Amino acid sequence: MANNGSWEEFFASHLPPTDFEDNRSLLKEFCERHALQGNKIVLVTSGGTTVPLEHNTVRFVDNFSAGTRGSASAEYFLEHGYAVIFMHRQKSLEPFTRLFSGQKLLDMLDIQERGPNTTITVKPDSVDVLAPILVRYKAAHAAGAILYVSFTTVSDYFWLLRAACECLANLGPRALLYLAAAVSDFYIPKDKVPTHKMQSESGAPVIQLHLVPKMLAPLVNLWVPAAYVVSFKLETDESLLVPKAKAALEKYKHKVVVANLLQTRHNRVVLVTKNATQEIALNRGDILSGADIEMAIVAAIVSSHEEHMGGAAPAPAR
Ligand code: PMT
Repeated sequence: MANNGSWEEFFASHLPPTDFEDNRSLLKEFCERHALQGNKIVLVTSGGTTVPLEHNTVRFVDNFSAGTRGSASAEYFLEHGYAVIFMHRQKSLEPFTRLFSGQKLLDMLDIQERGPNTTITVKPDSVDVLAPILVRYKAAHAAGAILYVSFTTVSDYFWLLRAACECLANLGPRALLYLAAAVSDFYIPKDKVPTHKMQSESGAPVIQLHLVPKMLAPLVNLWVPAAYVVSFKLETDESLLVPKAKAALEKYKHKVVVANLLQTRHNRVVLVTKNATQEIALNRGDILSGADIEMAIVAAIVSSHEEHMGGAAPAPAR
């Protein structure tokens, strides 16, 4: 594996995604509006990034994340009164609709086929499930409280992340970054990526991955120095989990690391801060009733963010 360059070199060697300027305008408008209203804004990143193996991409390196954590957390931040920038992998789970993926939505509906007068209704026993979600969805959209922006590749992700940070910087400590996306640590430099689909006739390809610079460093120190930054740490070996979370906190000097194991990530996390570690776990009853662990994670983060804002200098006058 080759060494990583600097984050500046990464941006210099990767063009922004084609929809970048549109997304930048949306982010700017959203942040300015909520800053004027005195709201808190959380940036929730969600889902996994890809690493294309060809410029005209047929194949790519991907990861497991479906966006379960990010999409559920976004809903709970809305409930706590935050404006939410939901920055997600295209086609991964989204707030509200996450609960109806696959055939679930169609199973909730009935159809009465009467030619041009055909009607579709929600089954009576599904109304209780659908109605509260629809109410929260409509309220969030009517209030303009959620903005959806999406990425696919790791380079799209970083361009969008930096643009969001540029807009959030004005909010000072009222900005919260909740970096739950599973971001690739490895990539193939642009000049080593073939333009067209790799041909099997050429034999088995030998692909050298390079290290992606960790963007947490410029993010914490330069892009949003006053924001409350929460990163996530994913491991598969329990013995590494808390030590690596503590090392990340020590290295990047942000506020919280939410540490989770791949195998148990939906039932247990450990919140690591400078002075404490706090385990959050669902019990058997919670799991059987389908409770989301994100409700408790978000409640804990919101409470520490509030403490941070209480002690922080006020946002700069606008
Ligand atoms: O979507 P789900 O199935 O619900 O899964 C949720 C989750 C397991 C993806 C989520 O809980 C999680 O742990 N996300 C972070 C996974 C990850 O990227 O961990 P990491 O240890 O590789 O990176 C640690 C931190 O460094 C991350 O916050 C990441 O934003 C940051 N990073 C990573 C790579 C990189 N080049 N630069 C970074 O700054």
